[in-house]
Amino acid sequence: MHMMKGILHGWQQQKSEAATKSMVRRAIPTASSVEEATQIMRGNWLNAIEQHHLQHSQTSMIGDILDIGCSVGVSSRFLADKFPTANVIGLDMSPYFLAVAQHKEKSGTPRKNPIKWIHANGEDTGLPFKSFDLVSISYVFHECPARAIVNVVKEAFRFLRPGGTFAMTDNSPKSKVLQELSPVLFTLMKSTEPFLDEYYLTDMDETLREAGFVNIKSILTDPRHVTLTATVPQ
Ligand SMILES: C[S@@+](CC[C@H](N)C(=O)[O-])C[C@H]1O[C@@H](n2cnc3c(N)ncnc32)[C@H](O)[C@@H]1O
Repeated sequence: MHMMKGILHGWQQQKSEAATKSMVRRAIPTASSVEEATQIMRGNWLNAIEQHHLQHSQTSMIGDILDIGCSVGVSSRFLADKFPTANVIGLDMSPYFLAVAQHKEKSGTPRKNPIKWIHANGEDTGLPFKSFDLVSISYVFHECPARAIVNVVKEAFRFLRPGGTFAMTDNSPKSKVLQELSPVLFTLMKSTEPFLDEYYLTDMDETLREAGFVNIKSILTDPRHVTLTATVPQ
């Protein structure tokens, strides 16, 4: 049983990292390597978050960050590198991905503020009211049913401080590249991502507005992905 878990664990890690690499390569086809594409794609997302927070939050300090759907920790590590004075928490529903995230972080260069990992559902985290300055949700919502997206947005509004920033990045329903994908490919994608239709049909701006967010902005941060940012009123 133990060995089976180990095999499954390794397979999940490889699958997750390979999927991320191929997604990055498709997003920035002009880059000469996966590393360059990753830096561009993640850099654009992080800059959109930083710009939004600087522009709309009177306290420009980002002290506490929650990364919902952190998987094996790639997005949490990018956030921790960009905001080195902040406390970053990676949260995921999968204990296996979290174990990989923890292991990878332990084998890297030690940080002044080590990343913490929490096993929870982003729809109901149990985290204290008004306790974060930034929540980031990257490449998660296209995997979620519409009801879960709405719940995660409401939960984020609850645990963000006034002036806190919400950021999500994912497939853009307005992306020409995605709109021109062949119907066969789209059907194939739905075999591993069954809620794609629900995600594309969710009006994210309206979902954020209904939860109480203001300053809602969306930027096409690469030809396939949108980064949506918003603020909790002060
Ligand atoms: C594609 S991965 C995200 C990758 C990562 N954020 C990044 O940018 O590299 C999606 C993750 O979302 C997690 N997830 C989906 N729904 C969730 C929920 N309601 N609460 C917490 N995690 C969730 C899955 O377990 C999975 O690890």
